[in-house]
Amino acid sequence: MQKKELPGEMYRPSAEVIGRARVKDWNAMVAEAEGDNQKFWAKEAEELHWFRKWDTVLDDSGKPFFKWFTGATTNIVYNCLDRHIENARRNKLAFLWEGENGDFRSYSYFALRREVCKFANVLKSLGVQKGDRVTIYMGRVPELPIAMLACARIGAIHSVVYGGFTVEALAERIDDSASRLVITCDGAYQRGKVVPLKDIADEALQRAATVESMVVVKRTGHDVKMEAGRDMWYHELMALPIAGNDCPAEVVDAEHPLFLLYTSGTTGKPKAILHTHGGYMVGTYTTLKYVFDIHEEDRYWCAADPGWITGHSYIVYGPLLNGTTSFLYEGAPNYPYPNRWWQMIEKYGINILYTAPTAIRGLMRFGDAWPNRHDLSSLRILGSVGEPINPEAWKWYHTVIGKERCPIMDTWWQTETGMFMITPMPCVPLKPGSGTRPFPGIIMDVVNEEGQSVGPNEEGYLVIRNPWPSMMRTLYNDPDRYIKQYWSQFPGSYMTGDSAKRDEDGYYWVIGRVDDVIKVSGYRLGTAEIESALVSHPMVAEAAAIGLPHEVKGNAIHAYVILRAGNSPGDHLTDELRSHVAHELGPIAKPEKITVVDSLPKTRSGKIMRRVLKARALGKDPGNLSTLEE
Ligand code: PRX
Repeated sequence: MQKKELPGEMYRPSAEVIGRARVKDWNAMVAEAEGDNQKFWAKEAEELHWFRKWDTVLDDSGKPFFKWFTGATTNIVYNCLDRHIENARRNKLAFLWEGENGDFRSYSYFALRREVCKFANVLKSLGVQKGDRVTIYMGRVPELPIAMLACARIGAIHSVVYGGFTVEALAERIDDSASRLVITCDGAYQRGKVVPLKDIADEALQRAATVESMVVVKRTGHDVKMEAGRDMWYHELMALPIAGNDCPAEVVDAEHPLFLLYTSGTTGKPKAILHTHGGYMVGTYTTLKYVFDIHEEDRYWCAADPGWITGHSYIVYGPLLNGTTSFLYEGAPNYPYPNRWWQMIEKYGINILYTAPTAIRGLMRFGDAWPNRHDLSSLRILGSVGEPINPEAWKWYHTVIGKERCPIMDTWWQTETGMFMITPMPCVPLKPGSGTRPFPGIIMDVVNEEGQSVGPNEEGYLVIRNPWPSMMRTLYNDPDRYIKQYWSQFPGSYMTGDSAKRDEDGYYWVIGRVDDVIKVSGYRLGTAEIESALVSHPMVAEAAAIGLPHEVKGNAIHAYVILRAGNSPGDHLTDELRSHVAHELGPIAKPEKITVVDSLPKTRSGKIMRRVLKARALGKDPGNLSTLEE
């Protein structure tokens, strides 16, 4: 959401918040981390378990292909589970889970380790080996983190595809990663209905050639087709003698691939971001500990989906590395009533809530009476992620949910960064809408086209100047694109793809994407994917997609299509096209509106000028049109 002016209010944390905070002097921590960056990260890494210690903290000899903790061996899952089993956390709850239909399950660290070991043994017996890719396409059930952890435990590489994606998006990701195994559910509950995940996976598998087996978790119990020789039930496999209770964690190199996560970029197909065991572990562990100020007795709830980076870093890995108790919820925030979240916060005594502005705006619409019916006094810290938070939503979150006691951690980061990059900590004075300053040790800047820093309150490109442990290592199978996309525009600096301003206090104000990525309800989608879904329909010749401001979603997708000869426009047709996109890509990608046009504004080299479409739709000046075809 565009910020027209920078609000000047400062919210200072209370003495109570500061008194409890792990970090009380932010400036001292920044000075320490900037003074000796490698020492800073090494000190954090020392708190974790390594089978063998590193020789070098940062190896930048092959930059921008940076390596961290080289020479070390570890396993992130050993650190998430086994490390705690050996101490007092053995019986502590790792996960509490509530299904949308009211089902409840909980796992102690001991139990979670056992389930992960069992499934890791199942994976091995299915022939999954170190380095193999496994696609996970599931709803928000405990078996999702279990599957991720089981893969990582044996050194396999998981590729989680968000359960809100559908056929083509899934097929493309399976194919690109050459996964031989897919793990899915029969279905997922969402707003009282069943999302038929297994049926979607079946259809995707007709388009993806590499898959040999599919493991299916029974969640909804409705009828699904099981293909003999390919499909197996999770619960049946877990009951076999091969699913033994112990499976030692594979000793892997710190730089061994942990997972692929596909995300949308400027052009073409989604790209596979690659993260590795060692650095990602240190980054997520450290940032969660300080930013959400994790204490032993906390109950923490990150309400994202495990299928996105927020879920990977701050539902699965970060919380388990910190030995905290996390709450997981399966369904929609307003089902069956708009008090569902508030009811669960009260019921489970949640202390830390981390969510996205779109969810806050969505729940805000129902009014204050819903949250006010519940005792939310357990909350201590709130968090926001995914897009800029507008001041109205910030204030509502702060007053109605946090009762003006809870500081809001507005965390800016990306799939690529793996961890929080611009974020406050509880001791830091806040300005609504700003993520405050970079995390200690991270050097960021706002620059002009030439790569020079711009002055206070001037808009420019947001860049990162130095490497950090949980940075992506490359784009899987596409190292050239990694360099081109992230390290070419401003040599030596990482280009985030965002524009931002920095004010006179050094606080950052992220404005939004400068590329063809659209953030819809915090979800990251590419215009290219939406357009290719549209032109895969036989009636469409050409398509262009743009994002326009939306009150709840932040942005909504608007598409323009040119029809193939012989087809005439009408509501029926545009409805069909919208449904087609939802079927191919997923309901999150369904365009708000589709307009049939005769031509699209293009450059002379044939590139669609989306900014012209956007300016026109908003009634604004389209700017420089010198490259326009006609
Ligand atoms: O544009 C920024 C926006 O989300 C992008 C990254 O999207 P994704 O890789 O899907 O990761 C989202 C969750 C980490 C960024 O380039 N973004 C993320 N957090 C914020 C944000 N914009 C403003 N404020 C934030 N706190």
